[in-house]
Amino acid sequence: MEVRIRVLRYNPETDSAPHFEDYQVDADPMDRILDLLHYVKWYQDGSLAVRRSCAHGICGSDAVVINGVNALACKVLVRDVEQPIVVEPIRGLPVHRDLIVDMEPFFAGYRAVKPWLIVDETEHEPARERYQSPEDRERFDDTTKCILCAACTTACPIFWSDNEYVGPAAIVNAHRFIFDSRDRGGAERLEILSTKNGAFKCRTAFNCSEACPRGIKVTQAIQEVKRAALFESL
Ligand code: SF4
Ligand code: FES
Repeated sequence: MEVRIRVLRYNPETDSAPHFEDYQVDADPMDRILDLLHYVKWYQDGSLAVRRSCAHGICGSDAVVINGVNALACKVLVRDVEQPIVVEPIRGLPVHRDLIVDMEPFFAGYRAVKPWLIVDETEHEPARERYQSPEDRERFDDTTKCILCAACTTACPIFWSDNEYVGPAAIVNAHRFIFDSRDRGGAERLEILSTKNGAFKCRTAFNCSEACPRGIKVTQAIQEVKRAALFESL
């Protein structure tokens, strides 16, 4: 089948503003949007800038806006979207070129919440495992699924207006450690998330949960972190 794809293009070295360019591609209904972008880049216009790596929904590098909705280009099938298929870069981050954005403001928020296991070395002999029950593991199972694609954060109207807000993905990754029974950095993270750029900037728009390609209950995780910051001592 013939498919029309419309891509928002922008080259800061030559363009004064972003503009749409249309392409006609011979595609199968089961092709992914990433396949179309590849086809355009490899056979029609080599200057198209696209970021991707795994092509299988794991690395999180090809989040874009498809017909107005944040998604991974490698996970959306041609048969499931209306034509023309409009592809734009994710919103709220500076555009390097075409569909490639500067992820640094996103990763700054991620780093700010210390997304690693913080342990008390005096609790265990170094050679011993830190045991965890299946019930304790279940407590943060949902938030372990994050692939840092930024679909949630760049669907958030608060983040669009304020890049200093750590954003939903950072809070999801803080949740993953705050509720880990082996971790001892919860109080420190909750203090960080209680500052003016932390979790309480969230206005519960639910855009983040709808945008997440991993089906993570992002808004719920944010609410659990807010509740812990207000009522729990970890
Ligand atoms: S929570 Fe979901 S949408 Fe947000 S960065 Fe992680 S995987 Fe992507
Ligand atoms: S290319 Fe890795 S998630 Fe799509």
